[in-house]
Formats: sequence, C-alpha cells, structure tokens
Amino acid sequence: MLEIRPADLSGDAAYKLLCGVVVPRPIAWVSTRSASGVSNLAPFSCFTFVSHRPPMLGVSIGRRPNGLKDTARNIHETQEFVVHIGDETLLDPLHRSGAEFPPEISEADLLGLELVPSKLVAPLRVAKAPIAMECRLHKVVDFGSNQFFAGEIQLFHIREGLAVDNKIDTGRLRPIARLGGPNYATLGEIIGMTPQAEQSSPQKSAVSWG
Ligand SMILES: Cc1cc2nc3c(=O)[nH]c(=O)nc-3n(C[C@H](O)[C@H](O)[C@H](O)COP(=O)(O)O)c2cc1C
Repeated sequence: MLEIRPADLSGDAAYKLLCGVVVPRPIAWVSTRSASGVSNLAPFSCFTFVSHRPPMLGVSIGRRPNGLKDTARNIHETQEFVVHIGDETLLDPLHRSGAEFPPEISEADLLGLELVPSKLVAPLRVAKAPIAMECRLHKVVDFGSNQFFAGEIQLFHIREGLAVDNKIDTGRLRPIARLGGPNYATLGEIIGMTPQAEQSSPQKSAVSWG
C-alpha cells in the first residue's frame, strides 16, 4: 500500500487526493444574491445533509487567495441561499457555472439559464432544476482552508412525478455526481437491498440474498 503523510503534501496535492478519494460526490448547485442584488450561481461538491429534523444542508467552501468566493460572501451578507440538484440535462451549465466570474456577473444570465423567484428567500432559483431547496443560514464553521455553511431548509421544490410519499425516484431524477479531476458520473445500476429492520426481525429471518 502507498503511504502518504499529509504533512508531505502541498495544499493543492491534498485537494487533488481528497477529490479522488471521496467519490462520487453529490453536487449542490447554489444560488445566492449579493447585498446589491446580483444573482450568483456556482456548484459545490463538498456537500451533504447534516440534520433531518430540522432538515439542514451543509456545503464546504474554500477561499481564494484574494478573499472569499462570491457564494460564501453572499451567504455571509444575506444569510440565504438555494441549493439545487442538477440532472444529466444540466451538466454543461452546471460545470460551466464553476468558472471564476467577477462578482458583478450573474452566471445564470451568462449561461442563458432561466431564474424564477423563490418563495421564502431572496435568491432566485433555477427553473429547470428538478429539485431546489430554499435555505436560511444556520451556522458557519471554519475548518482549516474551508468554511462550512450549514443552512436550514425552509422549502423543498420537487418536480412533479419525482417523489411518491416523500420518496424520490432516483432513476427518474438522473442526478450527476462529481469525481476527481474535471470528471463527472451519472447513475449506475441501482441495487435494492432488504431493509436492516427486516433482516434482524425473527419472523422474517428467511431473507433470500439471491
Ligand atoms: C462540480 C464542481 C464542484 C465544486 N465543488 C466545490 C466545493 O465543494 N467547494 C469549493 O470551494 N469549490 C468548489 N468548486 C469550485 C467553485 O464552483 C468555483 O470556485 C466557483 O468559481 C465559485 O463561484 P463563486 O465565486 O461564484 O461562488 C466546484 C466546482 C465544480 C465545477
């Protein structure tokens, strides 16, 4: 086995290594609004949910040599953001929205993406995204090079036909994931398993694992 000590890695090398190790990563496509009203849209794959009651999402944002990324600065200033889940049809604009644009540029306008008003927060949402979650900032925590933004979901927007009884049909969602390098993945085979509760129940011990 190759042994690598973090102390021997530059920041860039550690970033590269982690991006290849933690895969596949879901992508938060985050819309924010600056204090002066400019819309901003950027993808972040250091992303997960951090609580289900109340529902909270977390995104880890790195710094630029000259200061904060627009998304981080906007969240600090306005406390609000919208997290979208992109599908395969949105891969190209999602990827391109990750380029470094000046703060006065709206990535969505530049990429020809329609934005529509959110209900409970000021940042607009991407009309074509199958899922959008309106969030209010809960807490920001510093972790080394990054700042972790946890937001509480105020409202879920789920495209008609995607959810039955609060269960998302992943096959229909067709989400995209981030891998190391500028690489992405689509959904592979979905493997259904027996719920653990049924495996451990004595009445249902005769589970076939085929
Ligand atoms: C798919 C994808 C995932 C990304 N994930 C992150 C991330 O988790 N954290 C981060 O700081 N930057 C991430 N980036 C880079 C940011 O999107 C990039 O720095 C962007 O310019 C930030 O935009 P902003 O200044 O408008 O906020 C990612 C880029 C792409 C394309």
